[in-house]
Amino acid sequence: DWNAGNVIAEQVARIREQVGSARVISALSGGVDSAVSTALVHEAIGDQLTAVFVDHGLLRKGEREQVEKDYVESTGVRLVTVEAADTFLGHLAGVTDPEQKRKIIGREFIRAFEQVQLDLVAEAKAEGEPIKFLVQGTLYPDVVESGGGSGTANIKSHHNVGGLPEDLDFELIEPLRALFKDEVRAIGRELGIPEAIVGRQPFPGPGLGIRIVGEVTRERLEVLREADAIAREELTIAGLDNTIWQCPVVLLADVRSVGVQGDGRTYGHPIVLRPVSSEDAMTADWTRVPYDVLARISNRITNQVPEVNRVVLDVTSKPPGTIEWE
Ligand code: XMP
Repeated sequence: DWNAGNVIAEQVARIREQVGSARVISALSGGVDSAVSTALVHEAIGDQLTAVFVDHGLLRKGEREQVEKDYVESTGVRLVTVEAADTFLGHLAGVTDPEQKRKIIGREFIRAFEQVQLDLVAEAKAEGEPIKFLVQGTLYPDVVESGGGSGTANIKSHHNVGGLPEDLDFELIEPLRALFKDEVRAIGRELGIPEAIVGRQPFPGPGLGIRIVGEVTRERLEVLREADAIAREELTIAGLDNTIWQCPVVLLADVRSVGVQGDGRTYGHPIVLRPVSSEDAMTADWTRVPYDVLARISNRITNQVPEVNRVVLDVTSKPPGTIEWE
């Protein structure tokens, strides 16, 4: 029988053997896979591991605090946060093309991560133990999707790393390689990671940057962050977290429509709700969220986020639509 405790014990032994006394780094994204793989490696080797979290300014409300506070408290992982919002938003200024956004965000993520790597390598050399390993939260479906390859090159593109500097030659630790998502969640729970992180819906690496149709600016991010937080909260209260695979909330920043709020005419932006049901994100159907839940979300967003005067529902399956709008 499959048992989270046994898998943890096996992996801990394997990781210890693989790593010896070397040092290890890991990139936390805030997502389930990196959270669990990092915690598992920490369980095995403690402070030989340093986790890196890049705050690119495209995070959802409360996400950074969740990692820095709840995750660190529950796991004891040694964490370095990189403050990179200004840099990312600077490079995203004026950019509206989705692929261009992805490229910029991916490239800046690598840069930020590399800088920390260099700092840590310098520190490690001073202390006599090299950094030899990089943790990756690769799951079994990722392995299958990427053709079963292994080794230093097989890394999800948004997590880096095609462009590691040549003098940094990491071996990968991939403790989740044989596992499915629900198993990863079970292991995370067993390791004491808070439910808010373990139960998290998939969230794209480029974050809210690809959920603003149009240019990404600080003000627009703030609007979307508030709307997204409201939608997530109401869906959770309604008990729909396990029914819905994920619910992107999208700001149509270049679209305006006329509305009336209070005594006045408004000329605001629409927010799109995109709740989907799926097994693996390859195909998806739009989730039939009860009308009263949709009504509450709509009321709250239009009341509490002044820039938004309409909430619309995306009723497209995948295909032909993708889950994300960009
Ligand atoms: P689409 O929009 O292609 O999304 O139907 C399928 C799944 O992948 C996620 N997604 C991404 N994840 N980097 C990521 O890490 C990306 O650039 C990216 N684009 C889409 C999306 O949230 C969904 O779960």
